[in-house]
Amino acid sequence: MTTDTSIPFVHRYEPATEPGRTPLLLLHGTGGDENDLLPLGRLLSPGAALISPRGQVLENGMPRFFRRLAEGVFDAEDVRARADALADFIETACARCGHPAPIAVGFSNGANIAAAILYRRPQALAGAVLLRAMVPLEEAPAGDLTGKPVLILSGNADPIIPAANAERLAARLAAAGAEVEHRVLRAAHGLTQSDVAIAQTWLAQTWLAGK
Ligand code: MLT
Repeated sequence: MTTDTSIPFVHRYEPATEPGRTPLLLLHGTGGDENDLLPLGRLLSPGAALISPRGQVLENGMPRFFRRLAEGVFDAEDVRARADALADFIETACARCGHPAPIAVGFSNGANIAAAILYRRPQALAGAVLLRAMVPLEEAPAGDLTGKPVLILSGNADPIIPAANAERLAARLAAAGAEVEHRVLRAAHGLTQSDVAIAQTWLAQTWLAGK
């Protein structure tokens, strides 16, 4: 199946109220949309600009960022094309608004497309918070991720993501040079207060470190 990546992304944008803060790119999970993660983004980095696109794939009416053949089995060709299209959108949107590259905050399918962008177009992102992510593509990351900060938060009772898969993602990103912090929380697939608290602290430290 071909992928038409020329369609613009429906999205929400909130301008920064605290200048200089790295913008956040918010990427929802399966069945979500551009509104879902705005409250989380405001909590995680108050005052940062927020860019929140909607995934362009529909699975039984539910928006996603790429096609899958079954749960956890991805259409690799579609992942590559959609990651590149989203990277193009991010770069164009940031150039238009005068923003530097954003830090992605992705949940589930949104975390997986963020990881795919790190694999293919690392310059499009300043870093990433990957909430319940898995390996998006079987090949190794194509780009140099040296110094790119990445926080991966997994759940020890996640029925969708095997622990070994999230560990493999952390290892692959680290092997490509990323500064990966991978924490496994007492959680299932859904987000918890611990996810929010850890991501908040990590983002504040990353921002203070000037990344
Ligand atoms: C995916 O399809 O990206 C993952 O299985 C997570 C999800 O269920 O969305």
